[in-house]
Amino acid sequence: MLLHIVILAAGQGKRMHSSVPKVLHTLAGKPILSWVVETAFRLNPAGVHVIIGHEGAQIKKKLSHVEVNWINQPQPLGTGHAVLQALPAIPAGSHVLVLYGDVPLIQVETLQSLVGQCLPSQGEKAPLNWLVTHVNDPTGYGRMVRDSGQHIVGIVEEKDATATQRTITEINTGFCCANRDDLQRWLPKLSQNNAQNEFYLTDIVAMAAAEGHPIIPTTAIDSYEVQGINDCYQLQQLERVHQIRQATALMRAGVTIADAARIDIRGELHCGQDVFIDVNTVFQGSVTLADHCSIGPNCSLTNVVLGAGSTVLANSVLENCHIGSQCQIGPFARLRPGTELKDQCKVGNFVETKNAQFGFGSKASHLSYLGDVLLGSEVNIGAGTITCNYDGVNKHQTVIEDGVLVGSDTQLVAPVTIGKHATIGAGSTIRKNVPAGELTLNDVRQKTVYGWKRPQKKKG
Ligand code: UD1
Ligand code: CA
Repeated sequence: MLLHIVILAAGQGKRMHSSVPKVLHTLAGKPILSWVVETAFRLNPAGVHVIIGHEGAQIKKKLSHVEVNWINQPQPLGTGHAVLQALPAIPAGSHVLVLYGDVPLIQVETLQSLVGQCLPSQGEKAPLNWLVTHVNDPTGYGRMVRDSGQHIVGIVEEKDATATQRTITEINTGFCCANRDDLQRWLPKLSQNNAQNEFYLTDIVAMAAAEGHPIIPTTAIDSYEVQGINDCYQLQQLERVHQIRQATALMRAGVTIADAARIDIRGELHCGQDVFIDVNTVFQGSVTLADHCSIGPNCSLTNVVLGAGSTVLANSVLENCHIGSQCQIGPFARLRPGTELKDQCKVGNFVETKNAQFGFGSKASHLSYLGDVLLGSEVNIGAGTITCNYDGVNKHQTVIEDGVLVGSDTQLVAPVTIGKHATIGAGSTIRKNVPAGELTLNDVRQKTVYGWKRPQKKKG
């Protein structure tokens, strides 16, 4: 049986009060619609159809890499009308699963059971499957209406419900799965004769009941899974739920997290054994922390691999970096893209690196800019060293060979090479290649002006 998935995302999202379409707001760094699309593809469907309307062009552009069928719903005439737009693209006999672009945390297992229920027994009709849940406060939701025999006979929207119906706490999550041919029979018969003047998808439940068509409810256990995002508060709520779950999984796997409420993972974080993560740390993209790594407070790591036993101290920012084992970074270090450290390196306070390769055991402990630079092993960079890599038009490379010691306050004007085991005297501006093994410095003689007086401020 073919499975086709329809994702509804044509609503305006007015309550976000934002120029960005609601489904492009991000949860854990990823547009909320992308969460739904990715979950959809994990069900191996024959097709995924996304219904867009408001700001559709922006949505398509942002998700241009995904292979979905974009369907325009010119006017948001209701959820039933939205699903109907997709039917021409879906072959007869298929199963149709309806998802929501603003309900990002729906789990693939829940959907699998919803779809699984749809398979008809021999010679019988494919049932209509509906995902429902129980809530303490059903305000705003469609209520599941059951007859005296507890059979579902319809869904009534809050705005159309009687006072008695409003007390029902079994609610419609919106998720459902049905045979395409049944939808083709029911959806064109929907009317707008209701409080919101909309074609309600939910009205097909009463149609099915009237036909004696089997209706199977599946109950979602986890309420966050079916919670939609309408405003920035709900977005934040789901963000926190998601973050605390990721942190919990890491802690269960042995990671020590100082405060599970103060870690944000916007992507994937892989941790080895005995990893420690202090408060207010943001991980983005793909980050790997090998055994015995430690991350200090207020750090940001984006696409980073950290080798075993390495430490990142407070307030450091690392992006697109590969760090060996037993390295020490920070506090207050900024490692920009293309930074690669072999084992046992050190990048200390107020050091900025970019396209910088450090050989084994090399150190830049304080106050430096190291850009477009290749360091051999056991190099020691003194405080205040700057690679002058930019001539105003082009970037140039600096090569510092094994065992070099660069004195403090040195400018290395690239392109330039410092030979093995050379020593650069403090305060030098190096414009020419430096021979190996020798001391090279700029000889700026020191003089004293005896009897010189500082200027005085004039009085009055
Ligand atoms: C809907 C259900 C309600 C359920 C609730 C769960 C209907 C009639 N009501 O109500 O029973 O409890 O979801 O959250 O289905 N959309 C379109 N095109 C449209 C209209 C809506 O794509 O013409 C999309 C919206 O972008 C949104 C989704 O469908 O993602 C749901 O629409 P919304 O108007 O929010 O429905 P609710 O009133 O929340
Ligand atoms: Ca809604």
